[in-house]
Amino acid sequence: MAESMKGTKRTHRCTEITNQNIGETVTVMGWVSKQRNKGGLIFVDLRDRSGLLQIIFEESDTAKETFEKAGRLRSEFVIAVTGLVEKRSGAVNDNLETGDIEVRALELKVLSEAETPPFPIEENSKTKEELRLKYRYLDLRRPDLARNIMMRSHVATTVRLFLAKEGFLEIETPMLTKSTPEGARDYLVPSRVHPGEFYALPQSPQLFKQLLMCSGYDRYFQIVKCFRDEDLRADRQPEFTQIDMELSFVDVDDVIEVNEKLIKNVFLETIGVDVALPIPRITWIDAMNRYGSDKPDTRFGMELREISKLVESCGFSVFTQALEQGGSVRGINASGQGEMPRKKIDALVEFAKGYGAKGLAYLAIQADGSFKSSFAKFMTEEEMAGIVAEMEGKPGDLLFFAADCNKVVWDVLGNLRLELARSMGILDKKEYNFVWVTEFPLLEWNEEANRFSAMHHPFTMPMDEDLALLDTDPGKVRAKAYDIVLNGTELGGGSVRIFQSEVQEKMFSVLGFTKEEAYERFGFLLNAFKYGVPPHAGLAYGLDRLVMLMVGADSIREVIAFPKVKDASCLMTDAPNVVDEVQLEELCLKIKRPALDDLA
Ligand code: AMO
Ligand code: AMP
Repeated sequence: MAESMKGTKRTHRCTEITNQNIGETVTVMGWVSKQRNKGGLIFVDLRDRSGLLQIIFEESDTAKETFEKAGRLRSEFVIAVTGLVEKRSGAVNDNLETGDIEVRALELKVLSEAETPPFPIEENSKTKEELRLKYRYLDLRRPDLARNIMMRSHVATTVRLFLAKEGFLEIETPMLTKSTPEGARDYLVPSRVHPGEFYALPQSPQLFKQLLMCSGYDRYFQIVKCFRDEDLRADRQPEFTQIDMELSFVDVDDVIEVNEKLIKNVFLETIGVDVALPIPRITWIDAMNRYGSDKPDTRFGMELREISKLVESCGFSVFTQALEQGGSVRGINASGQGEMPRKKIDALVEFAKGYGAKGLAYLAIQADGSFKSSFAKFMTEEEMAGIVAEMEGKPGDLLFFAADCNKVVWDVLGNLRLELARSMGILDKKEYNFVWVTEFPLLEWNEEANRFSAMHHPFTMPMDEDLALLDTDPGKVRAKAYDIVLNGTELGGGSVRIFQSEVQEKMFSVLGFTKEEAYERFGFLLNAFKYGVPPHAGLAYGLDRLVMLMVGADSIREVIAFPKVKDASCLMTDAPNVVDEVQLEELCLKIKRPALDDLA
């Protein structure tokens, strides 16, 4: 039977009690993590969001009724205990914050009883994620998950305080809105009042934050939900949170400067890591050439090297053909991996094929300087010597090469580099290597649509020196766009925006929008620009990804209270679900059953 809390007031959270409180009477409330009955002594580990505290009930200290009640406690009962803080009578537990003390219980109230939970509420749970997500409210009691959620709160608060101090205003933007320009699929919300019409949930507050600059607010931020209907991965959810900002009267360096201060402040305040400033910068093309990725993990080297010139006229047609077709030949040096068994090399060739490689050439340099290689027989001695020198190969090294168009070569070697680092165990989660990637291409060629699309979004400003190329060679234009990358994850991205209508019109025409189409989608923004628009720029971080990396989690699901699974459903609420016919009728919607059957 649940007892009333009346007359009992909590004085501390479990781990707020320290050896400074020895001799004091305290009242704690929380969940029974474990109860051990040792005859005349009963131990209870009490848990609240702060952690664990040991309570000791001794038959001779308490009323008979209290001791009997303690004997009936089970895991997850919610209790209130009043008692005396003492030095721990048994062995000190170094693993616990409160490991050197215990509370000698005098009074006990059972506030709520509990059924046996479907899985143990414990750190480093071995329970399958599906079950944990079904009972997420229990999963969230687990200390490691609770720490993540509390860290997330701490990060958000620190960001708010910092940005407010820097003169940013927190302004909310609508959730029921029009399609925004981030390029993923929209989540649509049907309108009851306008049958057949839909709102889109925002993929980001992009257009609204630009409008706020037009309105003169100067520095805006928001910690805001964004919605994107895209394939889910470990670092992608259909709804996620951005730390979103926009600034007026600024250029690239100004945005980077305030964000470096933000990053330094947040890492220091929350996890005590002092990020060295300035954060290194690398241009997009250098990132691709050196790391094969626009989100380079700079915690280790193993950089890509191009050997196209050295193999131009070699006898290995795999290389020469790729070059003839305008591609390149590049390699990486897996230093010290020369003894890698053939089976593992074959597995890496298959791995490379997963990224579009037609194959992967390799060269192991033996201790005596001789080669074990898939292509040495087609090469002259000079060619081999040239390759080894360019790759800085030493005896004991293993070199991998890919020949193809640049895009495939970068992707294959970029991913191979990461795979090798993972298997060599050289990635340290506690090392935080930031890098700004700058000068992104403005446009990328969309094969399917046979036209350019914006690499960031259509409001991104070309670099001043490339403006003229927009007319002559749009594919070559670099943008005032930047990403902040941490340990190979894109944490955030942003750009300086176009604020001159002639540049914006040119941009739309390169993207294949007619003026009418542009106005239909973004007319409110383009109109706003007619009434005085300041130069402006902004950036948005993924808060989920930021916290994931800060706590060393492998997935953003570990830092989101109620995440969705791969098929974008919620295992706890069973969303999405079928709705009443009445609701559909009100919205003038009819479900096409055959289409559903096709999907099944
Ligand atoms: P972008 O589209 O690069 O930029 O998004 C910014 C950051 O948001 C995070 N992110 C995600 N996190 C989890 N799940 C997702 N599905 C997901 N999609 C994106 C990433 C990403 O770096 N409006 C621009 C910003 C600007 O130009 O100011 C924008 O949204 O960490
Ligand atoms: P093949 O001529 O297809 O038998 O390939 C000979 C060797 O070259 C094999 O070791 C392949 O894995 C490798 N190879 C094939 N295509 C490529 C490529 N595009 N880049 C690098 N190596 C390749």
